[in-house]
Amino acid sequence: MHCFEELESTSAWLRSRERGATPAWTVAWAATQTRGRGRQGRTWQSPRGNLYLSVSLPAPSASAPGLLPLAAGVAVAQALAGWGVPARLKWPNDVLLGDRKLAGILIEASSYGGALEQVILGIGVNLSVTPRLEDPGAQAPTSMEESLGRAPDVASVGAAVLKQVVQWHARLADQPAAVRAAWRSLSADWWDEAVEIRTPAHAWEGVLRGLSDEGGLLVELPDGRLTTVTAGEVLRLRRAPVSSGGNPPG
Ligand code: BTN
Repeated sequence: MHCFEELESTSAWLRSRERGATPAWTVAWAATQTRGRGRQGRTWQSPRGNLYLSVSLPAPSASAPGLLPLAAGVAVAQALAGWGVPARLKWPNDVLLGDRKLAGILIEASSYGGALEQVILGIGVNLSVTPRLEDPGAQAPTSMEESLGRAPDVASVGAAVLKQVVQWHARLADQPAAVRAAWRSLSADWWDEAVEIRTPAHAWEGVLRGLSDEGGLLVELPDGRLTTVTAGEVLRLRRAPVSSGGNPPG
């Protein structure tokens, strides 16, 4: 584990190491980041007081690469549950408290000679500082301090998160159904609701219907067809539910 007072980005630091210098399970932790990276090309504001860590993971098995983001979300949500935080997951792995974002997860993979070589899991948890909302299209942020009136010690949360990451990563290979079930039980209750799916190139609307075996999101299109979303961001549209029922299929 490598600890820093300040880094541009813990994930960028791990990626910049020479091949072989960051074997699986190398961890980078920083008290603050000057160029923290978020999903969808966003910046992840990284003031002192929150948790920023990245870990290099063994390449996921070819059978379930789409479940890795879900397993990471479950790991963070379950770690925070140890502090009584009722966190819920928004696909694929935004960690929400109510409708606001408490933690974010970024998975970056690199390949060598055509084979997936290195996967870097970056985790940011807002503990004592709520970052400003810079992109109005993004989920509004919160922190444990703001929402619960207390912020646990950064190192304790980091240790709990890493412990859960190790456990859920192990389940990816031999218990993928357990990963899906845990994710569904922790998921935000947006099933059967109208959502907008955004990718850098497109935005379109549909109704959230469930999770595929591979970890994609099943979305019903306006013409009734079901499609599987494997990348992008989901935003809830504030409308009445489209049909009754609350459980995702599958
Ligand atoms: C998101 O946009 O939801 C993902 C945010 C991920 C932030 C973490 S903080 C530690 C690691 N280093 C980074 O630069 N980003 C990730």
